[in-house]
Amino acid sequence: MRFKFLCALALVLALSSSSFAAGNLAFIPDIRDSQVMPPNNYICQTMLVGNKLITFRSWLDIPYVSNPVEPEYHRLNVYIPEEYFHEGGTINGYTAKTAPILMPNGVGGYMPGRAFVPANDMRHGGPNIALAALAHGYVVIAPAIRGRTLEHGKAPALIVDYKAAVRWVRHNKDKLPAGDTEKIISDGLSAGGALSSLLGATGNAKDYEPYLKAIGASEERDDIFASVVYCPITDLDHADMPYEWVFNGVNTYHLGPAREMDENMKAASEALKKAFPAYLNSLSLKGYTLDENGNGTFRDFIEGLYISAAQKALDAGENVLGLDWLTVKDGKVIAADLAKYAVWATRMKAAPAFDSLNMASYENNEFADKHFTEYSFTHSTAQKPAMADEAVIRLMNPLNFIGVEGVDTAKHWRIRHGVKDRDTSLAVPAILALKLRDAGYDADVAAVWGVPHDGNYDLPELFEWIDSICK
Ligand code: DHB
Repeated sequence: MRFKFLCALALVLALSSSSFAAGNLAFIPDIRDSQVMPPNNYICQTMLVGNKLITFRSWLDIPYVSNPVEPEYHRLNVYIPEEYFHEGGTINGYTAKTAPILMPNGVGGYMPGRAFVPANDMRHGGPNIALAALAHGYVVIAPAIRGRTLEHGKAPALIVDYKAAVRWVRHNKDKLPAGDTEKIISDGLSAGGALSSLLGATGNAKDYEPYLKAIGASEERDDIFASVVYCPITDLDHADMPYEWVFNGVNTYHLGPAREMDENMKAASEALKKAFPAYLNSLSLKGYTLDENGNGTFRDFIEGLYISAAQKALDAGENVLGLDWLTVKDGKVIAADLAKYAVWATRMKAAPAFDSLNMASYENNEFADKHFTEYSFTHSTAQKPAMADEAVIRLMNPLNFIGVEGVDTAKHWRIRHGVKDRDTSLAVPAILALKLRDAGYDADVAAVWGVPHDGNYDLPELFEWIDSICK
């Protein structure tokens, strides 16, 4: 009752503030004030989560840079649980001072990403991550992010924006009514997972500075505490190789109507599969290698991730029997066969999976309709093949920044990939995790049974992990 009264009072204050245009009540944020959290321009919202009413305050559409080249996207939303506005208010042991700040991004397909809005979207049978996080006691700050279809949205725009949003949060450390700015956690899936991993990997890396300056980002740190990564479409300049390491020999692809790969694609598959062991070995991952046939401890690691996923599902009472790629004996999953797995999972993309020969993939578009690998550039079937700027390709790959002097990579990582995911090879998130571990970071990586290309489907477990690193 008290909350409702305070919220109503706040609304009256907000309506009387000068930022509201009289007449149509449209909220018109002042671009010149872009670096500042507006104190009173919030609305109160109450939503049902399970059988509990959750009340929170929402600041919407705050510009987060002073030179917003895409003003529709250079904005973020701040959501804070109502409890934190009241003396002694706590949720799950968090207070206004200690609550972690979750910054989910809504990027998919390297397209522009809208700011997350708390909702019972029911995608996974209940609230989305923003609403569930508020109910759990986190502060949520959700930036919109530029993407490849905008005039100013090509690589590396998306990571520049995510960093700028983090800097905005730090710039407003003393103005934010709640949230620990040293506990910022990113989250995303697919291209958004790649983005989350980039933000986590590249904290304070100088290389992005000119881009940040150009959009008028705050001069603040942009390192974060933890990175949550689902099925990341990342390591773009190498990911074609592990895709073929897994799917070579499966010649029908399913992006669009099911089709057979043509001779160029099959040749690419052969060449890329052969090239993968040398790439993997060049990373010098401690204890993980491949021989020239693609066998070895790294393959064992990948098969082991599938075995663990199946075992967890089996222990939870799910049926994992009857699959020719998985061996189960006496309630124990004892083997997974990657070659048979590929036949079962089916191939989604023709070879090369990311840097497409005709230069028409999402990723080619992200790199301004250019190639970004030597193989596809030299074997291009496009009318006017072009190669993306090497420096831009570098800025899009988190692996280039992990363990590098002067870069503040996030300490904690949770990386998940569905067992049914064929958008990229499980080797991609696995390499990310191993590289992080080798550099001394805490990287929790797992494949998840029954899950396709998706994210934010295991919020109770995710929040348990966040609580374990924050408390
Ligand atoms: C996404 C999926 C893809 O298969 C891809 O190549 C790039 C992005 C996505 O869902 O974000």
